[in-house]
Amino acid sequence: MSKFSMKEYGNTIYHDAQRYDDEHWWKTDDFPFWKKMLVEASGNKVLELAAGTGRLAIPLIRSSAEYTGIEISPEFVSHANDKLQMENGQGKIILGDIRSFDLSEKFDLIFIGFNSFLHLLTDKDASACLKCVIAHMHDKSRFIIDIFYPSPLFLYRPENMRFPTMEYRDSVTNEKTWVEETNDYDSETGINKIRWFYSTDKNKDIRTYDFTMRMYWPDTMNRLLIDAGLSIEHVWGTYRKTKYSENSNLQIYVSGV
Ligand SMILES: C[S@@+](CC[C@H](N)C(=O)[O-])C[C@H]1O[C@@H](n2cnc3c(N)ncnc32)[C@H](O)[C@@H]1O
Repeated sequence: MSKFSMKEYGNTIYHDAQRYDDEHWWKTDDFPFWKKMLVEASGNKVLELAAGTGRLAIPLIRSSAEYTGIEISPEFVSHANDKLQMENGQGKIILGDIRSFDLSEKFDLIFIGFNSFLHLLTDKDASACLKCVIAHMHDKSRFIIDIFYPSPLFLYRPENMRFPTMEYRDSVTNEKTWVEETNDYDSETGINKIRWFYSTDKNKDIRTYDFTMRMYWPDTMNRLLIDAGLSIEHVWGTYRKTKYSENSNLQIYVSGV
């Protein structure tokens, strides 16, 4: 499917779509932000990169977006399109790799939300993605990236020490489940290897998931965006559009061509 390495993708948390939806019940704080970005866009044609299970597709479609998503997990694509069918069949999520795509059309708003950009593990992968993005932009398009700021408190946690990550109710077993994580950060490559441990009241460590993310700092983001030929219009540090500062939890890059 992809001319890029799929090694990392084979070992990630992105294969069980129902579990993804169950465990991310709490992630709604970005809905108003993306709806606002749609209102401010030059039109309603929207492309989401790494669209997942349609978490952001649905609120945007309900806000009149003409929505397309690209997602690499076949299980997520299938689950997401089932959900979109219930939205009067509006919008679509296409199976694809954000490092290599050609939809032969332009979009008013292109975005990659909820840290998905961190799955681009090298400069080569990130640049390939940005090149594809630009090919789908017109002179009034906006491209927006939402990633977290890699806090040293998170990166330099003691090795193998588990930290509570989230709690959710499994919709299949109806059991309360909690997730703890360890991380192993390599400052040379910027790659953070994360392991999630799942437990219930009855059973500890019923499953583990491994995944990798590259930690991006503002200097690298600025370099990659500018080298790709994008012009950075804003860097925000919150979903309320406050200016990015060293104390911000988020980095939100808004670019045009
Ligand atoms: C943190 S999830 C975010 C999903 C969704 N955007 C959301 O906000 O809930 C990251 C998503 O990126 C997808 N992904 C990772 N690498 C990708 C790639 N190279 N091409 C397309 N999707 C990718 C994963 O399968 C996963 O669905």
